Amino acid sequence: MNNSRGNFTSKLGFVLAAAGSAVGLGNLWRFPYLAAKYGGGIFLLVYLILAVTFGFSLMITEIAIGRKTGLSAIGAYKALDKRFSFLGWLACLVPFIITPYYCVIGGWVIKYLSVFLTGNVSAAANDSFFGSYISQAVSPLLWFSLYILLNTVVVIAGVEKGIEKASKFLMPMLIILSIGISVFCITRPGAAEGLKYYLLPDFGRFSIKTVLSAMGQLFYSMSLAMGIMITYGSYMKKENHLEHSVRQIEIFDTLIAFLAGLMIIPSVFVFSGGNEEALGKGAGLMFITLPKVFESMNMGTVIGSVFFLLVLFAALTSSISLMETNVSILRDKLGWSRKTATLVVSVYVLIVGAFVSLGYGPLDFITFGKMQLLDFFDFVSNSLLMPLVAAGTCILVGYVIRTKSIEDEVELNGPFQSKKFYRFIIRYIAPICLIAILIFSVMEALGLIAV
Ligand code: TRP
Repeated sequence: MNNSRGNFTSKLGFVLAAAGSAVGLGNLWRFPYLAAKYGGGIFLLVYLILAVTFGFSLMITEIAIGRKTGLSAIGAYKALDKRFSFLGWLACLVPFIITPYYCVIGGWVIKYLSVFLTGNVSAAANDSFFGSYISQAVSPLLWFSLYILLNTVVVIAGVEKGIEKASKFLMPMLIILSIGISVFCITRPGAAEGLKYYLLPDFGRFSIKTVLSAMGQLFYSMSLAMGIMITYGSYMKKENHLEHSVRQIEIFDTLIAFLAGLMIIPSVFVFSGGNEEALGKGAGLMFITLPKVFESMNMGTVIGSVFFLLVLFAALTSSISLMETNVSILRDKLGWSRKTATLVVSVYVLIVGAFVSLGYGPLDFITFGKMQLLDFFDFVSNSLLMPLVAAGTCILVGYVIRTKSIEDEVELNGPFQSKKFYRFIIRYIAPICLIAILIFSVMEALGLIAV
């Protein structure tokens, strides 16, 4: 099995492929709404600290595990220690939970693209547009199905590589366009206050929820604690410098999230007053705020259309890779053909995602505490499963196989500059913090605390 694995031909190829899967709706849609909701600057600060400590150490660990064993998650954890096999299974559950609701949001993106292409920008800029759209039954389901179909076709035809190639020039375009839009947003009258909210940490807004949400976001955005980076690592060549590659992926991913925040958060102050209610919009924030920005621009219809097209591409590269992950798990474990596995996954995503989509409309009576279906799925994967997998991985690496085995893998091609730091995080800081986070999440889920 091992020898038949293709390798990434260049170091850049590896970084780009991993970054292509990492950069998606997590950066553009999820990061800004969490940052807006959980305190702006303080969220950003906590996120950055977590990224250079936990994010860095976990990504190194996962890629090294993959490269060392040459296996994807289930096999890799089993190969390291039989007692930890369950971690591989838990990790594999995550993409199955994320994919359905990821596609629901993908459907929202296509809908907004179509609204912009047909020139209805002022309708979309209306405050009630988003809410009344997602509470409908049929229309969101149709766009969601179209989004799944795009994924299914690509995965069945096996042309992910083509999509990845296209994204290599579309992603830089997205970055350039985002910089342009950010400059436009932060130079609007009234934006200074929003910029202050986003960039200057206000310690009075710090709460345990800031850390919980930033940690969940880190896993989500960098595709950590779900086996993905292990799989990527298994394709990585031994010659590549692991530590450098990880740094590059992290910087790239964080920069895009930062830019998305710069486009959206000051705009909430400019166009929606910047009060707690406007900032706490949650999952709809990007869809509520950006049309207002485009409406106030010259050529806003064209710029908005191009923007949503590029967002759609970023979303597709991620969801295709999510879908591909699910498909390869089923193929490996059940021996199904590519086509069968893809069709089964598509139908599964269609059914589960339909519940999520209807959860904002006809099925909005199904709630878990205050959480609607989408938030519930998001919570189970990001606040429960991912911290659990991450904590288990740290204990496995820190105390069972020991960090040395990972360090040796990293050092195959040059010194591991942050070795001591890495060891300290994996052995002491990460397990303690992750277990604390898990306890808080479980208590929150049981309604024992309101965080
Ligand atoms: N990180 C991706 C994003 O930011 C989402 C994602 C989570 C993902 N898990 C993944 C993408 C697995 C590909 C594979 O949007």
